[in-house]
Amino acid sequence: MNHPKGRAFPDALMHEVRRRFLHIERDHHGRERLYFDNAGGSYRLKAAVERFAQVDAIPDNTERIHEAAVELQAIQARGSADLRTLLNAEGGSIYAALTASGAMFDMVRAVAENVAGTNMVTTVLEHPSSFDAMTLYAQKTGRELRVAKSNPATGGVDVEEIVRLVDAGTCLLNVIYASNISGAKLDLEQIVRRARAVKPDLYIIVDAVQHAPHGLIDLQKTPVDGINIAPYKFFGCRGSGFAWVSERAAVLPHHKLSGKKPDFWDLGSAAPWQFAALTQIVDYVCWLGGHFSDATQRRALFEAGIEAIELHERALLSTLLDGTAAAAGLRGMEGVQVFLDHADLTKRDLILGIGFDRLDCTQAVHAYGQRGVTVYERVASSIYSKRMLDSFGLEGAVRVSPLHCNSITEMERFLGVTREIASLRP
Ligand SMILES: Cc1ncc(COP(=O)(O)O)c(C=O)c1O
Repeated sequence: MNHPKGRAFPDALMHEVRRRFLHIERDHHGRERLYFDNAGGSYRLKAAVERFAQVDAIPDNTERIHEAAVELQAIQARGSADLRTLLNAEGGSIYAALTASGAMFDMVRAVAENVAGTNMVTTVLEHPSSFDAMTLYAQKTGRELRVAKSNPATGGVDVEEIVRLVDAGTCLLNVIYASNISGAKLDLEQIVRRARAVKPDLYIIVDAVQHAPHGLIDLQKTPVDGINIAPYKFFGCRGSGFAWVSERAAVLPHHKLSGKKPDFWDLGSAAPWQFAALTQIVDYVCWLGGHFSDATQRRALFEAGIEAIELHERALLSTLLDGTAAAAGLRGMEGVQVFLDHADLTKRDLILGIGFDRLDCTQAVHAYGQRGVTVYERVASSIYSKRMLDSFGLEGAVRVSPLHCNSITEMERFLGVTREIASLRP
């Protein structure tokens, strides 16, 4: 992983990667566009969408004994095994919810309502799905909510800042793996180790929605009690959020049918397509990993695939920041500011926040749209942005989030469009 500026895919592989995704060059109306809002919903794998349709077309109920039901059960078992592969998790329970937010609220509720303590700890950079769940259940259970502040120099939250809030009375620590505003990764390994040095049996829940498609998760190194992902931000389909819960967290009282086993989390009939689509995601990452590794074991191939994605995305990030011979980078571009621009790219996922001297964020997003580029305005009036932006002292930012299936040439095209927008007058 010693590639401070990343390592782009070879051309032939880039071509193969792009062939596997939908709407890379054109949107669903056939219009040319650069979709750089993958932190809001990623490019989809053709195989995931096809498999979703195939499996959801099967009318059979999974909880039967006939052949089709057994087939659906196998699809679910395979998808569950694949989620464990993705997380490097052993045991525990898998929960297929409709959204990552739903899974997060349920996990926080189970811990808050059933584990003793006087306080709950989280960070200012959380998505509302965890921040609001922590606020709600801290209020309901009469706990103090402690919030770790962000670090504007890194765009993340320092380990020390979190650990100093944890004590023997902490019921739950809830942290985001990487910020969906700045792309900064939190040092989860250190957070888990040091927080548990303060309280060895501390319950820890992690929001991995942002980070999972960009970097490796390894629960053997970061043993937490709950973690969620959103397949629609991970090359898959909407209407699906997955969580894994540890053995001890799984048996905490939670919403369930009383006849089901104590560690069972699905409420009602799970949709087999969710598991089928997840398997396609893991298959794809393993296929990619096979270009970089001779391994045969699925987790090893998955690791190699995610590492290849991480390095290619770092090369894209480096290109956006510093440019190429063909296009000036954002760091040196007149009229453009790069926010939360931590120099060490190994600590960042592929997300950038930028601003324009002469345009506000909303004007800039419209200007991009007119030029066939989709980006997202993070403004302080949005419930999804305000707390995080305030913590950094920012009024707003244009969020730029390409994906590994984008090429260096597309970064150059984006830089050209940005230069044009920077020269506009409001
Ligand atoms: C970091 C993070 N966590 C959680 C969520 C919630 O995901 P979902 O929309 O599936 O509930 C999002 C979605 O934007 C997110 O970016």
